[in-house]
Amino acid sequence: MTNEPVASPASEVAPATPRRGRPTGEPSLAREADFQTGRPTKIAIVGVGMVGSSFAYSLLLSGLAAEIVLIDANHQRAEGEAMDLNHAVPFAHPTKICAGEYSDCEGAAVTVIAAGVGQKPGETRLELVRRNAAIFGQIVPRIAEANPEGIIVVATNPVDVLTYITVKQSGLPAQRVFGSGTILDTARFRYMLSEHLGVDPRSVHAYIIGEHGDSEVPVWSLANVAGMRLPTFCAENGIPLSSDTMGQIFSQTRDAAYEIISRKGATYYAVAAGLIKITEAILRDQNTVLSISSLISDYYGIDGVCLSLPTVISRRGIERVLRLELSPGEARGVRKSAEVLRATIDSLEEPARPA
Ligand SMILES: NC(=O)c1ccc[n+]([C@@H]2O[C@H](COP(=O)([O-])OP(=O)(O)OC[C@H]3O[C@@H](n4cnc5c(N)ncnc54)[C@H](O)[C@@H]3O)[C@@H](O)[C@H]2O)c1
Repeated sequence: MTNEPVASPASEVAPATPRRGRPTGEPSLAREADFQTGRPTKIAIVGVGMVGSSFAYSLLLSGLAAEIVLIDANHQRAEGEAMDLNHAVPFAHPTKICAGEYSDCEGAAVTVIAAGVGQKPGETRLELVRRNAAIFGQIVPRIAEANPEGIIVVATNPVDVLTYITVKQSGLPAQRVFGSGTILDTARFRYMLSEHLGVDPRSVHAYIIGEHGDSEVPVWSLANVAGMRLPTFCAENGIPLSSDTMGQIFSQTRDAAYEIISRKGATYYAVAAGLIKITEAILRDQNTVLSISSLISDYYGIDGVCLSLPTVISRRGIERVLRLELSPGEARGVRKSAEVLRATIDSLEEPARPA
């Protein structure tokens, strides 16, 4: 006698029901046809400097994509990255990787934009924004023309302003255009908190919202571990949580990029890991809550700017933005973020002063 299961007669087999999503944790989607194009999953990356190439490398190791197209104004660089990445394929997953043109964005489930220029010595932040906005003016219409059905994720800074520009210039539904926003700041916040609280950062539920930048807002009032608000968790576990400690944790979060840039010139691994989480949430139709930047309307008086709030991300892009109930101070903070972003957008619309 064997313990093998007995096959059910055909008549007893339940009829196949269409599955909306798929269980999480499956090894790879790469060879499964994309639901829109019917082809294996393709991801396009525009701008393959430090951020774009770190994302491409992580994507290859993740096995999420069957095809990765690398596009850069410096085509040789894109070719070099494609060659180097292709030589890692035997250690990773079967993946087609090539340098391409904008027309190759066609059929990509997701196009990530990490193209941009850095600040020149003596250049103001607004001048830098203008230059990156001009680059987006060239890039975005070409992506949208090649791929009107795909999702665009912006990583270039200032990410909130450039996400707004991408929404406007792509003509795509706002549901399918968003920025990496404060996904990285939230990760930094959870990491800093985890160090203080002595628990895995994945068990710390806390968000940074608003601008990805100096006016970002830590949502202390809702931060928790296992549903325990931080003051309770800390009191129960004998951990100090003075306002000085909180101020320090937040300033280490907000200023992390400056600290890293002063040591190694740029930041790229953590944002690449965040972009993987966004891509995975889309491809696996996960309905994952991530603090990404999207066009916000009617939230604490905020309308018509892109900033970050926890957002449910699925195969369709943005499913819904979660309207957190904030403390009065946090609500003031996020309104201030919106004002800062609105002022930058407005000044971009004014003609540039001669140098
Ligand atoms: N959102 C975040 O959390 C986050 C984190 C880190 C960095 N960033 C931002 O990501 C962007 C890229 O950073 P990086 O370190 O990779 O810079 P980088 O200089 O290494 O790479 C930028 C790439 O963009 C390319 N590029 C420039 N103009 C282009 C154009 N018109 N068309 C196509 N490609 C073009 C360049 O050739 C270069 O390869 C920056 O704006 C940076 O501030 C964002």
